[in-house]
Amino acid sequence: MPQLILSGGSPLSGRVAIEGAKNAALPACVASLLTNEPVVLGRIPDLRDVETILATIASLGKTVSRSDGVVTISHGAMLRDEAESRFVRQMRASFLVLGPLLARLGRAVVPLPGGCTIGPRPVDLHLDGLRQLGAHVERQDTAVIVTTDGLRGADVRLPYPSVGATEQLMIAATLATGETRIENAAREPEILDLASLLSGMGAQIDIDPEGIVIAGGRPLHGAHHRIIPDRIEAGTYLLAGAITGGQVTVEEVEPSHLGGFLPVLEQAGVSLDVGESRITARATARLRATRVTTAPHPGFPTDLHPPLAALLSLAPGESRIEETVFKQRFGYVDPLRRMGARIQVDDVSAVIQGVRELRGASVTAPDLRAGAALVLAGLAADGQTTLCGIEHLERGYARICAKLTALGGRVERTA
Ligand code: EPZ
Repeated sequence: MPQLILSGGSPLSGRVAIEGAKNAALPACVASLLTNEPVVLGRIPDLRDVETILATIASLGKTVSRSDGVVTISHGAMLRDEAESRFVRQMRASFLVLGPLLARLGRAVVPLPGGCTIGPRPVDLHLDGLRQLGAHVERQDTAVIVTTDGLRGADVRLPYPSVGATEQLMIAATLATGETRIENAAREPEILDLASLLSGMGAQIDIDPEGIVIAGGRPLHGAHHRIIPDRIEAGTYLLAGAITGGQVTVEEVEPSHLGGFLPVLEQAGVSLDVGESRITARATARLRATRVTTAPHPGFPTDLHPPLAALLSLAPGESRIEETVFKQRFGYVDPLRRMGARIQVDDVSAVIQGVRELRGASVTAPDLRAGAALVLAGLAADGQTTLCGIEHLERGYARICAKLTALGGRVERTA
């Protein structure tokens, strides 16, 4: 299996261009199922998860072509109403195909996505919401069969602002007759990006402080859309600059999307210079222990919890990260401990006692963002780190070796 070999101790310095957001690209690709006309998506990152969603869509009948970060999804064969488990098992976002297939074909059979290492990831909110739009849901052991004699707009109040359930309902509601109001909807930038794509396809969507309102039932057409920058990739590279005592500028970003993260980075003792579409993070003489709680947007993003933990493991004093979104997102703790970090998990919080240095070790990434935490730790550690499980890392970080090397990081990928 491929590995990353990281040699720590070189401060990262320079500029890095940020890719399009994985978590905006995936629902955008799914939204193309709503129309037979071509949907052209720019700034699509070159990632395994994107390949998986495109393969899922192609298996459902779409024709997909890709060149220089632009993906064109057009009408191919008749749409199929059954998604294959080999795709949905690999990646939970594939479950989003349920909404558009149901809205267009009146029936969809989609395998249930499995749990994963960051904790249980149920789909009850997706299914309850679709029921309220007039779907009949039959839950089998490994799949759901969902049918409808026509989706109808409804008022849906989500008990939790789930990103995936909000996307599922937004996509389905564009083809439901009448108005759908989603209350307590997620507000992540990726949700707004999906709303912007759907509007470009002819949907009428309004976002107000109480919720998202979709006037459904208009025929949708093709569109050209450019995906927003990846705020999680940007945050990870800023942390990489800070943890190595260097200075990294992330370019082609939208700083307002990082509103819940940047103040925490400053509290941790990192100096920031924020421009219109770039952010520079510079390590100062001393990191500071910090307390933070993850929360839905605009709070501190759960996806930056593990990479932040790597930084705080070197901040003198006691830091605490409370995880409220994925309550088992602590897969990074054991491998970081093997590198010398002092971290205890207390219920849903990581309690971190800062150490003077981390040391290189052989570690395995259990999931994507834990993998990012271990890369950061390896770049800062004394000696060499061998990181296995990089298939997780490569789900979310395009060209990570080349980017880190260009910043002066010493990292090699074995084949
Ligand atoms: C999205 O996952 C992202 N994935 C995640 O990024 C991100 O961590 C998460 O949102 C939160 O920001 C994609 O966009 C592809 P949720 P999603 O539904 O949609 C519970 C990464 O590293 N819940 O908002 O699956 C759930 O268990 C990934 O890039 C239900 O109980 O997140 C969790 O505790 C990982 N029932 C909470 O809500 C449901 O039906 C948040 O989940 C749905 C969710």
